[in-house]
Amino acid sequence: MKILRASWIVTCDEYFSIIEDGCVVFDTNIIDYGEFEDIIQKYPNTPIIETAPNSIILPGLINPHVHLEFSANKTTLKYGNFMTWLGSVIEHRADLIEKADTALIDTEIKNILQTGTTTLGTVSSYGFDMQSCIDTPLNVVYFSEIIGSNSGMIDALFADFQARLSNALHHKSDNFIPAIAIHSPYSVHPFLIRETLSLAKEKNLSVTAHFLESTEEKEWLESSSGGMLEFFKNFLNQTQSITKAEEFLKQFKGLKNLSFTHCCLANNEELELIDELNGTIIHCPTSNRFLTNNTIDYDNLKFRTFALGTDGLSSNYSLSLWEEMRNALFIHQHQNITELSAKLLKASTSGGAKALGMDKKGKIEKGFDADIITVTLPDICDKQNLILQMILHTKNASQVFIKGEQIV
Ligand code: BEZ
Ligand code: FE2
Repeated sequence: MKILRASWIVTCDEYFSIIEDGCVVFDTNIIDYGEFEDIIQKYPNTPIIETAPNSIILPGLINPHVHLEFSANKTTLKYGNFMTWLGSVIEHRADLIEKADTALIDTEIKNILQTGTTTLGTVSSYGFDMQSCIDTPLNVVYFSEIIGSNSGMIDALFADFQARLSNALHHKSDNFIPAIAIHSPYSVHPFLIRETLSLAKEKNLSVTAHFLESTEEKEWLESSSGGMLEFFKNFLNQTQSITKAEEFLKQFKGLKNLSFTHCCLANNEELELIDELNGTIIHCPTSNRFLTNNTIDYDNLKFRTFALGTDGLSSNYSLSLWEEMRNALFIHQHQNITELSAKLLKASTSGGAKALGMDKKGKIEKGFDADIITVTLPDICDKQNLILQMILHTKNASQVFIKGEQIV
């Protein structure tokens, strides 16, 4: 058992409590927390880890949506229009995937850890990132992804998916948790959706999907028209969409731990359907800015528990949630900046935990996993501005603990 002491604790709990001169008592779990004077009386003779002046204790960040296999992209892919981007992914993916070897993915995961992210939800299309995700001390929810809308390919695609999923299940551990990703409503055949979701139910796995990211996706799903029509004609010899947005969502009934990434073009009915499913929206504002020039209306987020994700380096220049929070401050420019800061930090901690179905992570709370980080501000700060200044000034965490073990 040990005590970590800092100028501030930001609990990210239900009330977003902030404690001045606070301590957290922990072993692999959080045993207690509170003001310094109270804690030293309750836990005498317990070793105290001191932090630098103006440090803040908070739960480890949770990034529920990345694609590590696309980590080799820097400037190759084309931004500014969703169909142009998708075309560039198809043109370059073989090269990019080959370049993203284990050493490169290991380096990216190390960078992520340095920033203070202690849990990742990563979508894997090929399984090439699996060893890195097994070896890292980070908690990883590993989403084996199914993609493919061509009916002639169904058997081969499903067999390949099953092999990847069973490989992941074989390596399941406390910090490597297999799960399932359905790429999107437009790119996965309904038969594959049905079969993969039935596997998720049978094996009690979390599920994620991209949903209504672009206007092109919406037009295609609603009326088999718009920018996606050309793409489907040329690439897959298809002129009719195989699913509607609502039909797609209804297939997820009865599943636990659902998340839907983007939802930029989702209407009220679709958002309410996601609520009924107890699904969590994963908001990736930087990716949206780069690919679609659009994002989800903040009014659709602010009354919901949402999560923040970076998406992969295929649509971002960074996998840091601090960078993502900073960008979100500018993207949602009409919101009060201090209130928005608190919502973004909540989305990057407890919101991510909800998205991934981890009910003992994302908060400084008794009985929760001791996934704890500290960050250090350059100077003194008023309580009212604490979260905003933390978002503006943090590049890396000062200390990182996962299940009580100090990693950084
Ligand atoms: C497909 O494999 O069917 C597909 C992939 C990407 C976008 C759309 C469809
Ligand atoms: Fe994504």
